[in-house]
Amino acid sequence: MNARDSEIMAQFLRQAGHKECSSAAEADIILINTCSIRAKAEHKLISLLGALRPLKKEKPDIIIAVAGCVAQQYGAALREKMPIIDLIVGTQRIYQIAELLAAARRKPGLIAGTLDKSYQIPIFLPDAATRRRSGSVSRFVTIMQGCDNFCAYCVVPYTRGREVSRQLSDILEEVQALLDQGVAEITLLGQNVNSYGLTNSAGGRLCRFPELLRAVAALPGLRRLRFTTSHPKDLSDDLMRCFAELPNLCPHVHLPLQSGSDAVLKRMNRRYDRQDYLALVERLLQYRPDMALSTDIIVGFPGEDEADFAATMDMLERLRFDASFSFKYSDRPGTASANFPDKIDERIKGERLQVFQRRQDQISLERNRAYIGKRLEILLEQVDAVSCSGRTPSNHLTHINHLSARDIKPGDFVTVVITDAGQHALRGELAS
Ligand code: 5AD
Ligand code: SF4
Repeated sequence: MNARDSEIMAQFLRQAGHKECSSAAEADIILINTCSIRAKAEHKLISLLGALRPLKKEKPDIIIAVAGCVAQQYGAALREKMPIIDLIVGTQRIYQIAELLAAARRKPGLIAGTLDKSYQIPIFLPDAATRRRSGSVSRFVTIMQGCDNFCAYCVVPYTRGREVSRQLSDILEEVQALLDQGVAEITLLGQNVNSYGLTNSAGGRLCRFPELLRAVAALPGLRRLRFTTSHPKDLSDDLMRCFAELPNLCPHVHLPLQSGSDAVLKRMNRRYDRQDYLALVERLLQYRPDMALSTDIIVGFPGEDEADFAATMDMLERLRFDASFSFKYSDRPGTASANFPDKIDERIKGERLQVFQRRQDQISLERNRAYIGKRLEILLEQVDAVSCSGRTPSNHLTHINHLSARDIKPGDFVTVVITDAGQHALRGELAS
């Protein structure tokens, strides 16, 4: 989502006549997009701003702007701490970045950060420069922004605001424009795509997520459709059925589990338990036996004891995720769990993370090795003099033996026989 926001801001800046340069020393404007999902991301911003201080002293006319979730969350307080900031751009103001920068030039210290409940996501059509930079094989389309779930650990509802869904017609128009430009794969993007269609203050036509998926899947020319992220509590049977019914809907689900312990899930306010999650995965596999599954895991949530962590490891053994993103719990200001008792020691969090990641790596390797000998369709993303790679429908990165790859280019679909597999990628030969 942040990468997508950066892409949007870069386009607006280019259209306003700004040019990219290769170092901060050459720049008149430095725009930093930020993430605040864990404290580490926030620390990166503070150290970057610290490093920019001498430059700002030397060239006081330089404009330093901070956008994204950290900007949204701290607003004026961030500027008080770091007075070199000339402009704070909230998460709902990225489409006005060019005007805001012009205004900040006249009046440094501008803070554009209020979250508006009736916010509407505008249509964004990439121009030629954005297409060149972002590629024309696989692209993101935002279908909703914000989140109403208030998981106890999560800052997103505070930094991206309450859920708003885009109108169906706007989404279809944006996808169609990308398809007209030759894009083969679309990923529909939202913090919680399953609750698409529940909230949009401006009216207009909305529908539930499965209907949206069917409408997008039916657009001519769309070879691959994906979506992210799904909340297990909202993954309906109607949605799961789409995997059996829509041939271009890719067999991969990213379904964040967060913890394998029912007690922790409850304190996290996730509103499902182990049994619910296991039942969902069983059902998904009934609809698509070749379904790949990835997840997010947090270790060391407040009060997580050895038995809770063992329950997470047990879910890993049962579910054998193809891949997972796992994190040490990080206190975020304003969230419910920041005030929970029984915080876990950093060292124990680190040990648990290592145990989880080591086992996940073994499982990923075993699962990847099971593809050896199979013929898979790869959408090529990168082809150059030394390497060639793309993704399977199940979203596995696949490197293709370059000697076997002739007369092919990014965006082509090729059949590949898998000959080898590592933890993070498959390797294969062109079949024809
Ligand atoms: N600490 C650690 N990980 C977090 N995530 C969200 N908030 C926190 C936090 N406070 C993780 C969740 C989420 C992913 C995007 O980031 O696993 O799914
Ligand atoms: Fe955060 Fe939970 Fe919303 Fe995901 S569903 S963005 S973890 S509050």
